[in-house]
Amino acid sequence: MEKLTVAVIFGGKSNEHDISLISATHIINSIPRDKYDVVMIGITKEGRWLRYEGETENIKNGSWTSGKTSPCILSPDPTDSGFIQTSDKGSISKIKVDCVFPALHGKNGEDGTIQGLFQMSQLPFVGCDMLSSACCMDKEFTHRILESCGVKMAKWVSVRENDLPMLDEKCVEITSKLKYPLFIKPSRSGSSVGISKAYTVDELKNGIKLAFQYDSKLVIEQGLTGIECECAVMGNDKLIVSTIGEIAPANDFYDFESKYNDPTEQTFIPARFTEEQIKSIRAVAEKAYRSIGCEGLARVDFFLTDDKEVVLNEINTLPGHTPISMYPKLMEHEGVDADNEMDRLITLALERAGR
Ligand SMILES: Nc1ncnc2c1ncn2[C@@H]1O[C@H](COP(=O)(O)OP(=O)(O)O)[C@@H](O)[C@H]1O
Ligand SMILES: [Mg+2]
Repeated sequence: MEKLTVAVIFGGKSNEHDISLISATHIINSIPRDKYDVVMIGITKEGRWLRYEGETENIKNGSWTSGKTSPCILSPDPTDSGFIQTSDKGSISKIKVDCVFPALHGKNGEDGTIQGLFQMSQLPFVGCDMLSSACCMDKEFTHRILESCGVKMAKWVSVRENDLPMLDEKCVEITSKLKYPLFIKPSRSGSSVGISKAYTVDELKNGIKLAFQYDSKLVIEQGLTGIECECAVMGNDKLIVSTIGEIAPANDFYDFESKYNDPTEQTFIPARFTEEQIKSIRAVAEKAYRSIGCEGLARVDFFLTDDKEVVLNEINTLPGHTPISMYPKLMEHEGVDADNEMDRLITLALERAGR
């Protein structure tokens, strides 16, 4: 069988750029080379697209940008079937690819923008489409869509920039609707960046100001107490819905530090829940995945509250693939190892494109 060419895109103009480099290294190393050739495309923090032809290991530490690179952009013209690369001397060549694998997180990578470009170029791509990516990235939209489908989420209030001149009144409204502690979140961020927890009105106001540094709209949620847990889902029509993984964060909440740097942060697979609880969380994960239109893969995050209620927190459409990430660990638990995972994700992308 002839090998297919997969372009893995990494980096990106997002505050999760560095995490993407680690995920991409894992993804590139796991794509089975007997079936696929890999073209590596890095997007710098400034947003420049470069084809990278050096060692995969140099992606992780960011030194790939000083390796062998050439400007290379994805053509929106479907008759190009891929990328346009320019050489030092200014000559232009086309790189035909069969599938694109966005190993990106957060803004521009996970929010539907780049997925829209893939759709224009009519290239098969791994993961959720433009619309479901955008809806899952935007916490306000996730609330609106999933709650209308009967999925339980934390109580919430949205805040817009035009609420700022009347911030005192807005805070009165928020605290009349929600009980402390409150979580203040930029609507479209990731990796806990810009999120804070407030116990008082002063902390609420400061949290709102902080979060507005990252987005022009916010979601304020009532804090839940319970156990955080996650479910890995893979598929288009027929789904693999994994068991539930449990997170025991070392810090007050699962912030950036405990997500990536804290060795005391612990995970349990399967979660230390009853079979019934695991079954009901998996059922909600599947319902949410289908309701919001996910395809390919997503990690659905929950709280099992102290009252044993299943409350959905968010859906991540390009979940982390670092060595400590939950998604690949949950898939492995289902018998899908890393090579198999990549093969399946690419196959799902091709299947969808063929529909
Ligand atoms: N309503 C809430 N109640 C309790 N903890 C929360 C709530 N919302 C968020 N958190 C904590 O903050 C973390 C980050 O919030 P999350 O919505 O998952 O944002 P991100 O998209 O940045 O991962 C969660 O993993 C959890 O630890
Ligand atoms: Mg999260």
